Amino acid sequence: MGQYFSLSAASFLLASGYAGAWSVLEPAGEEAQQIAVLFWVMLSGGALIWLGVVGLLLHSALFNRRRLAEKSASRIILWGGVVFPSATLCALLAYALWLMPGLRPFAQASSAALRIEVTGRQFWWEVVYHPSQGSPVASANEIRLPVGERVELTLKSADVIHSFWIPPLGGKMDMIPGRINRLSLKATKPGVFRGPCAEYCGTSHALMAFSAVAMEPEAFRSWLAAQAIPAPSAGASGSALFLRHGCGSCHFVAGTDARGTIGPDLSHLGSRVTVGAGILPNTEDAVARFIARPELIKPGSSMPAFDMLPPDDVRAIAAWLRGLQ
Ligand code: CUA
Repeated sequence: MGQYFSLSAASFLLASGYAGAWSVLEPAGEEAQQIAVLFWVMLSGGALIWLGVVGLLLHSALFNRRRLAEKSASRIILWGGVVFPSATLCALLAYALWLMPGLRPFAQASSAALRIEVTGRQFWWEVVYHPSQGSPVASANEIRLPVGERVELTLKSADVIHSFWIPPLGGKMDMIPGRINRLSLKATKPGVFRGPCAEYCGTSHALMAFSAVAMEPEAFRSWLAAQAIPAPSAGASGSALFLRHGCGSCHFVAGTDARGTIGPDLSHLGSRVTVGAGILPNTEDAVARFIARPELIKPGSSMPAFDMLPPDDVRAIAAWLRGLQ
């Protein structure tokens, strides 16, 4: 069964086209653009050197098999084995060091209009938006950011080391318990990307991901304003069942008595691209399956199974959560 759910998660990613949205070679952010250029420079340089070495090898093996005098052999070793690699490596190092301030623009980050605080947990992401005006807005397992504006991310961990990474937007950064790491990103194109956890953190490390949505600034601001207030709730029975079965002791849902802080904030679950921290499409069926047997979808997660509930109750809770837009 476990394999079945992992397979269904993998086929969702492949079928949705969402899988293509995590390539470092399709940059959609300022930092990622520079990383992609660095990659192509390295790749072309490496390919040229490889072609040169293979060419020399073929030349000496096929066309020029005479022995070399010791003096000319030493000269080849000196130029080809010492001078050329040292000069190439120094040039690459200088280029990478020159890129570095652009890849970690801390000075600009402090002036960012939006700070997003992300905390890694086994195996999900707690997200709090701190706009320059207005109160903080809590969310989980999804990062949204405005296109063309610099955003500062403060990264923490509540348990073990995780690593935050949105490949099309920029480089990765570790989330270390007891430390706050800072990352700054600027999306240049709107899109929906996938952010994987990039540091082994336990059983479900490979199932710890999030969706990153880069939106036009106006759309982003209205989205954030809507997130700041409780979602209009439909389906009173689902809400009552959610509370009666104790879901509210771990999860927070704005506008209800569910005030838990152990699990992901579910206030606007229905508006997220994925559920289960980036692994399942956001459908009622996926939410119901997660509630019934979380360990099948995410082994090692601390959420208990609720498959002892009548299936209709699970459905009603899932439908209510999906309705929280
Ligand atoms: Cu969190 Cu790997």
